[in-house]
Amino acid sequence: MKPVVLVTRKLPDAVEDRLRREYEPILNPDDTLYTSDQIIERAKGADAILPCHTEKFTAEVIARLPESVRVIANYSVGYDHVDTEAATARGLIVTNTPEVLSDATAELTIMLMLGAARRASEGEQLVRSRQWKDWSPSFMVGTQMTGKRLGIIGFGRVGRVVARRARGFDMQIHYHNRKRVPTEFEEGAVYHETCEQLMPHCDFLTIHCVASPETTKLLNAERIALLPDGAIVVNAARGVVIDDEALIAALKSGKLAAAGLDVYNDEPDIHPQYRKLPNVFLMPHIGSATKETRDAMGFRALDNLDAFFAGREPRDRVA
Ligand code: DGY
Repeated sequence: MKPVVLVTRKLPDAVEDRLRREYEPILNPDDTLYTSDQIIERAKGADAILPCHTEKFTAEVIARLPESVRVIANYSVGYDHVDTEAATARGLIVTNTPEVLSDATAELTIMLMLGAARRASEGEQLVRSRQWKDWSPSFMVGTQMTGKRLGIIGFGRVGRVVARRARGFDMQIHYHNRKRVPTEFEEGAVYHETCEQLMPHCDFLTIHCVASPETTKLLNAERIALLPDGAIVVNAARGVVIDDEALIAALKSGKLAAAGLDVYNDEPDIHPQYRKLPNVFLMPHIGSATKETRDAMGFRALDNLDAFFAGREPRDRVA
């Protein structure tokens, strides 16, 4: 008998085709966003769950999952939506999808940097609303990215691809990571032992660390104060790493020239001030949203399930 897999969201066709070949999937063709109760109900008889970051597996939800469920194979690199301690205590295996998102997320990060620096939201709004009347030397002047210093917090897979792409803009790379990475991964990037040491070197700052209690509100008022005046901040990691009130205050005061955001606290009900600020370039959590990457994420999640059901250690086990 094929293992039964509860899939919480509509996945790309190629991924669902493979799922049908190898498993007994319970699909969600309408892409309904299920409540925790609905997931628990639909998981009855399932051997595995293949969720996205949109479904929260708190300790309470995990405790209520049917006994039949043995593995949660996430369709995401981030797994902060799963209480991994509770999963381990319950004997559940948890996997994620690293590596396959790095290029798409790095592309989006560069877009956030450019969009924020070159005032893309304001420009688009002017053109669409027919308020664009003229050209002048002082019209829509932004910040140039070429040759500037880029600070990266979290020099893992995504952070390092961002660094590589940014070098195409002749940017000088500085980074902070929990541990210094081997020299061959640095490719000339300058390591800073603490965020505080990194901040003064960032004309642009991008964050690529995991969401955890330690990284919650990592970018706070004290650290923003250490950035050069007119710096630009972007975030395509997770909303929790930013203290919204502090970032908004710095964008209003002019301490920061602009920000580019793809992820937020309490998505999609983001802090209302962001919508009002002209100097924020806003995207709706689409870092991994390319056809190539969304297929690859699904295949990677299925590779993890295949390994689990073949009695092997899944490659991307995180709990
Ligand atoms: C991820 O994979 O973590 C992306 O944010 C999409 O969920």
